[in-house]
Amino acid sequence: MRTEGDTWDIVSSVGMTALFVAAIRAAETKQPDALVHDEFAALFVAAAGDPDTNRLIDDPELWADSPLGLGFMGLRSKFFDDHFRAATEAGVRQAVILAAGLDARAYRLDWPQGMVVYEIDQPKVLEFKGQVLADAHATPTADRREVAVDLRDNWPAALIEEGFDPARPTVWSAEGLLPYLPGAAQDALFARIDQLSAPGSSLATDTFGSDVDFQQLADFQTEQMRDTSFGKIDIADLLYTDDRSDPAEWLTKQGWTTKAAPPEELAARYDRPLTEVLEPYAQMFNGMKYLTAVKPS
Ligand SMILES: C[S@@+](CC[C@H](N)C(=O)[O-])C[C@H]1O[C@@H](n2cnc3c(N)ncnc32)[C@H](O)[C@@H]1O
Repeated sequence: MRTEGDTWDIVSSVGMTALFVAAIRAAETKQPDALVHDEFAALFVAAAGDPDTNRLIDDPELWADSPLGLGFMGLRSKFFDDHFRAATEAGVRQAVILAAGLDARAYRLDWPQGMVVYEIDQPKVLEFKGQVLADAHATPTADRREVAVDLRDNWPAALIEEGFDPARPTVWSAEGLLPYLPGAAQDALFARIDQLSAPGSSLATDTFGSDVDFQQLADFQTEQMRDTSFGKIDIADLLYTDDRSDPAEWLTKQGWTTKAAPPEELAARYDRPLTEVLEPYAQMFNGMKYLTAVKPS
């Protein structure tokens, strides 16, 4: 169960979810029609050291029943990649990746000259990531700055201390984050993003419907992944389902222009049809939205 101020590393609690999505990205990367090419994802999974989890990358058949696997992650990764590209094409030179986990965009995207990319996550998650990338002699393609802080704490102060400039437009992402925050912390997150966003800033995030049965999903996932390290976590224990504002509605009220796309729309946009899904996933996809928001100049 979650507690106020709880912490984790990459192989425990919420940290494990970052490794999980990295494993899916690594598997997607190996597909002939991959929507994301993340050569770093497999390095993270290898460094974490669980052979069964590595098997998930080598044998994509293991994901066969799981739309949460390959197809889904390709669409999600491409959606966020495109969000960053659109913002930089519009001239934005400051990015903040909230809950960066093992997101390697600061290394794999073709950022313009002068781009600064801030990555926020818990200290041990960023420490693991930094070590793996250093061991691989990887070089970031932007000025990458780590901000090791909890998103339930005063993260704006930590961000500004690393050089973030609220007077410049920012491109933000919060990918795979929101249900891991208590409702009040999620509401505070958006209020702070709004305060820190100069006109011309933009944000992308993924949101779940309010009536998702995460326990049903967790039970299925635990059973399906029982031979891997992911089978040892109960994802429903990591999530909060308490009340919170709807991000699209809230941002719209603050004057942002918002657009919410269901998974089917991404599937059509990227020509990657969603496969038929089993019930635990179907009820999760129902109500899921990929949200983009722009603060007008
Ligand atoms: C499912 S992973 C997603 C990681 C990354 N955005 C991606 O899509 O690959 C969730 C991430 O949220 C981070 N996270 C969740 N709650 C957090 C908090 N309160 N403070 C900092 N990071 C948090 C976790 O450490 C983890 O890296």
